Amino acid sequence: MSAYEQDYPDHTQSPDYQPGDEPRCNLSANETFHDVLESRLKRRDVLVGGLATAVGALFAGTALNTVARVATAQAASGGLVGFQSVPVSSADTVVVPKGYKVQVLAPWGTPISGAMPAFAPSNSGADQAQQMGMHHDGMHFFPIDGSATDGLLVMNHEYVEPRFLHSARYAGKELKSSEVLLENGKRADDEVLKEMNGHGISVVRVKRGTDGAWAVVSDPHNRRVTALTPMEISGPVRGTAHLVTKYSPDGTRTRGTLNNCAHGVTPWNTYLAAEENWAGYFRNGDQQDQKPNLPREQARYGVRAGGMSRYGWELAEGGADAYVRFDASSTGDSAAEDYRNEPNGFGWVVEIDPFDPGKAPVKRTHLGRFAHEGVVFAPAVAGKPVVAYAGDDARFEYIYKFVSARPYDPTTASGALLDAGTLYVARFNADGSGDWLALAPGQNGLTPENGFADLADILVNTRLAADKAGATKMDRPEWGAVDPRTGAVYFTLTNNSRRTEDQVDPANPRAKSQYGHIIRWTEARGDHAATSFQWDIFVLGGDEQAGRGPNGQKLTADNIFACPDGLWFDSEARLWIQTDIGESAQNKGDMAVMGNNQMLCADPATGEMRRFLTGPIGQEITGITGTPDGRTIFVNVQHPGATTAPKDWAAGKLVSHWPDGGSAIPRSATLVIFREDGGVVGS
Ligand code: FEO
Ligand code: CA
Ligand code: CA
Ligand code: CA
Repeated sequence: MSAYEQDYPDHTQSPDYQPGDEPRCNLSANETFHDVLESRLKRRDVLVGGLATAVGALFAGTALNTVARVATAQAASGGLVGFQSVPVSSADTVVVPKGYKVQVLAPWGTPISGAMPAFAPSNSGADQAQQMGMHHDGMHFFPIDGSATDGLLVMNHEYVEPRFLHSARYAGKELKSSEVLLENGKRADDEVLKEMNGHGISVVRVKRGTDGAWAVVSDPHNRRVTALTPMEISGPVRGTAHLVTKYSPDGTRTRGTLNNCAHGVTPWNTYLAAEENWAGYFRNGDQQDQKPNLPREQARYGVRAGGMSRYGWELAEGGADAYVRFDASSTGDSAAEDYRNEPNGFGWVVEIDPFDPGKAPVKRTHLGRFAHEGVVFAPAVAGKPVVAYAGDDARFEYIYKFVSARPYDPTTASGALLDAGTLYVARFNADGSGDWLALAPGQNGLTPENGFADLADILVNTRLAADKAGATKMDRPEWGAVDPRTGAVYFTLTNNSRRTEDQVDPANPRAKSQYGHIIRWTEARGDHAATSFQWDIFVLGGDEQAGRGPNGQKLTADNIFACPDGLWFDSEARLWIQTDIGESAQNKGDMAVMGNNQMLCADPATGEMRRFLTGPIGQEITGITGTPDGRTIFVNVQHPGATTAPKDWAAGKLVSHWPDGGSAIPRSATLVIFREDGGVVGS
């Protein structure tokens, strides 16, 4: 570990810490490029010479030049971005460009099913199971019969803020945004239940009325999936010893999904929820020689050694089995008598069919086990494999892709396509090329002699397998998006304050990166299943000095940004970029000029990039989808008010009351955004 790493013995004290972030877990000796070769693309070239120059030098005669040619043609025709930028903002409100309107829809606590309990701070844990969850994140609009005014909105609820969830009991106490209250060392059962039901996914029918306003409507599809919902496990890890628990002695099932961040949409129209910072929900008190003794499949992911888990669910006063399973200590005589393997049921991608509310969600293990930010599919082509990309959002972790074994057939395609294939991890070479390294038995050193018994063992230990294969350590890979016009793949790399000068490489070009960047690549021969690619850096986050736009130009007041996270291409190939400056950094120091978290829109073809939206205080903008006609978009606002200091919470002084105003508890919610003249959003 470097000296800089040692500056933070407690990872929660580092400048870029956000609630739920796991400690750095990648202690592998994988080399950065800087260690192995002199790069011909020096970091300075990227930062000072401009991206276009760097790209031109690197990719003369390659696929990315095609992008540049498209750019020139598009620029002549005026480009895709047609609105005026909004300024940065630190107000407790949502601002969109002139000519646009915003409506708030489905905030946390909105009743959607069962007895339809109205939102109230006093709602019980059972009520919460019939209401929208907390902390809206990745989201997709599934039209009903192709409609642009009627569909199922499906979204993740990443985590909960206990102060707001239990505001009656937690009022007046000095509490941090992540803190829970214990009584005699125990958690109140109903608080635990409410927290578990505040997590997961909501499926909710939404419709536009004749007055133009959207509303949640009661519907048999409406459904909550929570931290308690029974789930099937499929793919190579199903039925193996890794998944044997007291609940599932045959290793085929588990309960619930956790910390669902970004999402995915399969070519067969189902929803994928990714499990991101799940490790901290578990603790393991096992010791050997008075030292923590966690198995590698827990230690490499940050399961807590000793102490209490993130919310202390294992301390629920009644000792219910569904709650105590978050203690992964070996307490029984065998794995079938305790929950030592419970963490192995998490870290996966979960498939949910929003049109079949009776179907159990399925965890698809062949997509790998890590801090899954989300999943993004390449456009499916009949007769070709299905390809999906995924980032592991933690400092120095990796970018992956899955290629199905069987070809896509639109008449028969189903989740079974995700159960057989090859998982790859990315290596970004210093010369602008890249390689996909197969994480498969016998390949890239993944042999029993090296500690990988079989495919299930590789998948449960995806991070360790990627270490062994020699993947490139990235600056916290978040969302990915595929350009519908060029096929280029974009990924946000949100920040990494712990990368030292000697760990800098061309793909992660800045030490102590506080602003983050966006990388992109094109696959060899334009084939998403290819095992090599060409990459470049699309933009560098930053202020007007440090930031660089798509053509290498300096960022301006119209588009400075930091910490890119959410990423989405609309059907006309506008790239929407959402930011997540961490709560500890927002509106302070170098980040003060950025204001509250925001959303930008870029035309990769012309390099035009403008700020479209600014959000209220303390939140991040995350989650975006649209209607098929492009005339309505949905955007999520997550954790407004989370920057309220413990003292201010105790004094009843909240930094945000969005969206209800007055003295209300702030609530995550969805924004419906449309043009007053009914035109395509962004154009
Ligand atoms: Fe949940 Fe990586 O953001
Ligand atoms: Ca995110
Ligand atoms: Ca966040
Ligand atoms: Ca983030």
